[in-house]
Amino acid sequence: MDIIWHKSSGQFHLFNDKISYIFAVSPSGELTGIYFGKRIHDKADMSYVQIRVGMPQMAVDPDTESYCMEINRQEYPSFGTTDLGTPAFEIEQANGSKVTSFVYKNHKIIKGKNGITGLPATYADKKEALTIEVELVDSVAEMTLILSYTIFESYAAVVRHAKFVNNGNSTVRLTRALSCCLDLADQNYDWMQFSGAWARERIPEVKHISTGTVMIESKRGISSANQNPFVIVKRPGTDEFYGEAFGFSFVYSGNFVALAEGNNHDRLRIMMGINPVHFEWPLEKDQSFETPEVVMAFTADGLNALSQTYHHLFNNNLVRGKWKNRPRPILNNNWEATFMDFTEEKILKLAKKAKEAGVELFVLDDGWFGERNDDTSSLGDWVENKEKLPEGIKGLASKINALGLDFGFWIEPEMVNINSNLYRKHPDWILSVPGRKPSLGRHQLVLDFTRPEVVDAVYDMLFKVLDGTHVRYIKWDMNRTLTEVYSCAASPEMQGTVYHKYIMGVYSLYERLIAAFPEILFESCSSGGSRFDAGMLYYAPQAWCSDNTDAIDRIGIQYGSSYGYPLVSIGAHVSAVPNQQTGRSVSIKTRANVAYFGTFGYELDLNELSDSEFQEVKKQVAFMKENRELLQFGNFYRLLSPFQNKQTAWMVVSEDKKKAIVGFYCLKANVCALPGFLRLAGLDPDMKYQMEGKTYYGDELMNIGIMLAEFYKSDFSISEDYASFVTVIKAD
Ligand code: DGJ
Repeated sequence: MDIIWHKSSGQFHLFNDKISYIFAVSPSGELTGIYFGKRIHDKADMSYVQIRVGMPQMAVDPDTESYCMEINRQEYPSFGTTDLGTPAFEIEQANGSKVTSFVYKNHKIIKGKNGITGLPATYADKKEALTIEVELVDSVAEMTLILSYTIFESYAAVVRHAKFVNNGNSTVRLTRALSCCLDLADQNYDWMQFSGAWARERIPEVKHISTGTVMIESKRGISSANQNPFVIVKRPGTDEFYGEAFGFSFVYSGNFVALAEGNNHDRLRIMMGINPVHFEWPLEKDQSFETPEVVMAFTADGLNALSQTYHHLFNNNLVRGKWKNRPRPILNNNWEATFMDFTEEKILKLAKKAKEAGVELFVLDDGWFGERNDDTSSLGDWVENKEKLPEGIKGLASKINALGLDFGFWIEPEMVNINSNLYRKHPDWILSVPGRKPSLGRHQLVLDFTRPEVVDAVYDMLFKVLDGTHVRYIKWDMNRTLTEVYSCAASPEMQGTVYHKYIMGVYSLYERLIAAFPEILFESCSSGGSRFDAGMLYYAPQAWCSDNTDAIDRIGIQYGSSYGYPLVSIGAHVSAVPNQQTGRSVSIKTRANVAYFGTFGYELDLNELSDSEFQEVKKQVAFMKENRELLQFGNFYRLLSPFQNKQTAWMVVSEDKKKAIVGFYCLKANVCALPGFLRLAGLDPDMKYQMEGKTYYGDELMNIGIMLAEFYKSDFSISEDYASFVTVIKAD
C-alpha cells in the first residue's frame, strides 16, 4: 500500500496489491480522473489519457485551446465552466453565481484515517491505511475544498469524502455537496440497485447504462426500504464469480442520491451523496461542511468478491465497540408472539421456554411504556407501564437474568404520539411547518432531532430506564418517513439544513447512549429494513432486516442484503406459521435454515410449538452456537440466485478453508426434473473434505459439485416446495 505523488506530472497514485486509483492535476488546475481498477504499475506521467482534440466546443486551455473538461474525466466536477455534466457540488456565492473552479493548491498524506465530526465513518490505524487530503482553492469564491481519499492495505476499496471551507467574508450557500464522483472511460456497464418497499427490501434490479441518467434516491429522511444507498456498476457479463464491477456504499442514513450519467462522449459519471433536494447549507466566514463518506470498491473477480470486500471492511473498520467481530447472542423477541398485549407473567413464560431451548437473550418489544396498548399512544413517554411491568424494566430484567438469560428491549426514540405527555408538554418539538397540519405516519409524529434540547430530553428519559439496569441489547426502531420537514427552532435561512441535522441528531443520541452503556448491543430497525445502511452499522452493528419473516421471502431479502452488508449485520429470526405477512407455512427446519445465515433468533412463542418442533428448536440453537462464528463472519458466497432459479443456495467458508456450511433451498418444486449438482466455491482445491460421511476433494466439490440426489436419501426431498438442507463440510 502506498500513495505516490509525481510532482512533474501532478499525478497521484494510490495502490495496494489489489487496486490502483490514479488521478492528476489537469491543465485547468482541477483534478482529473485517470484510472480506478486492478493494480497496475506506477508510471510518472499518464497524462496521455487526458483527451485533447483539435477544436473542442469549449476549452479551458488558453494556450492550445484543446483541453475541455466535458470530454475528460473529473474527480469532483463543478458545473458551469467546460463541464456541463451533472456536478458533484454547487455553491451559491454572494453575487448569485454558482460557477466555481477549484484548482490544486496542496496536499498531505497521513498514515491511517481521520474521522468526520458528528458522522459515521470507516476508521483505520496507521498500519491499516493511508489517506491523502488534496486541498483545492477557488480564489473568486474565496473557498477551499479538501478532497480526501483513503486506501486500505487489505481491501480493494477507496473511501472518499469532501470538505468545504469558506475563507471569504460573505456567506455562501452550499446547495449540493455529494461525496464522490467516479468518471469512467466508457459506458458499457450495467447498473445494479437494491430496491423494494416495506417487507420486500433490497431486491436486486439490473439495467443497462447508456447516455442519459440512471438515478436512485431517498427523500424520506431515512435511507429507506425503497432504494438502498448501495449500488453496483458492473460489466454486462459480470456474475458472482467472474468479471469487473465497482461498488458504492454510502456511510449515511438520511436522504441520498446515487446516479450514473452517460454523456455523449462515452464518459460515464457515477456519483453518490446527500440528496440535494431540500438541502442548503449556509457557510459563513471560516465555517466548514464535511460530507459523509462513500466506500468505493472494485472487483475483477465477480460480485462475491466485491461483497466480501464490503463484509470484511465493515466488520473490521466500521463496526466499533464490544460487539465488533463478536458472534451475536441467540435471541427470542416477543413481538410476533404477543404484540403489545402482554403482562410480566406472560413475558416470563416466554422467557422460561426460551431458556429451555438454549436461547441467550430475551427481547421485550414495543408496548412496555406509557399507556401503550396500541400504536396510537405513548411514544415519547419512556417510562414503564406499571400495569404491565409492576417492577419496571429493572424488575423484569432481573427476573429474566435470574432465569439465566440476558435482557434487552425496544425503543423508538425519534417519535412522539399526539396522545403522549411529551407532546402535550412540548407540541412544538416536532418537525412541522407553521400553519400546516403535520401528516401522521402510524399515528405518530417525528421529533425535531435538530434541537439539542429534544435529544437531551429523550436521552434523559432513556438514561433513567437504563441506569443500573442490566440491559445487554436495544432494538432502536423508527417507523415512519419524514414529512413537513421544518424546524420551528431554525431561522428561514437554515431550513435547508434540517434533514441533515436531523440524522446528525440521531447519530448524537446513539453516540451518547453507546458511551454511557458500552455493553449494549444495538440493533437498528425501521419498520423492518428501512434504515439498513453502512452509516447505521457504525452505531448499531446489526439491523432488523425486514418485517417480512416468511422464510421463502426472506431468502430473497437476505440474498439481496448480502451484496452490500455482512451476514452478521442481518437480523434474521424464525417466526410462527402460517407466516403473519404472507400466510405461508414452511417447516421449522427451513425457517431455521434461512435464519442461520444472519444473526439468528426466534420471533414467536416457543410454548406454542409441538413437542417435536421444540426438540428441533433445541437442536437448532445448539447448531447455531457451534457454528455462528463461521456463519456470521466466514467468507460468504452466493451460489444460486433466488431471483433466477427455482432453487437457491449460498455458503460460508472459514478463512483457513477448513470448514464450510452450505444452505440449499427449494423455492418451487421442479417436478420430474433431475436434481443435478450444486457447485461450491471458496474451498481449497487440494484439501480433502468430509461431507455427510463421505470424502471429497475441494476441487471435486467446486467443479463437479454436490450431487443433490444424495440429499434425497435423508429426510428431505428436494422436489418439494420449501424443502431445504444445510450441510457442514469439514477438512478431513
Ligand atoms: C416495527 C418493527 O419492524 C417490528 O419488528 C416491531 O418492533 C414493531 N415495529 C413494533 O412496533
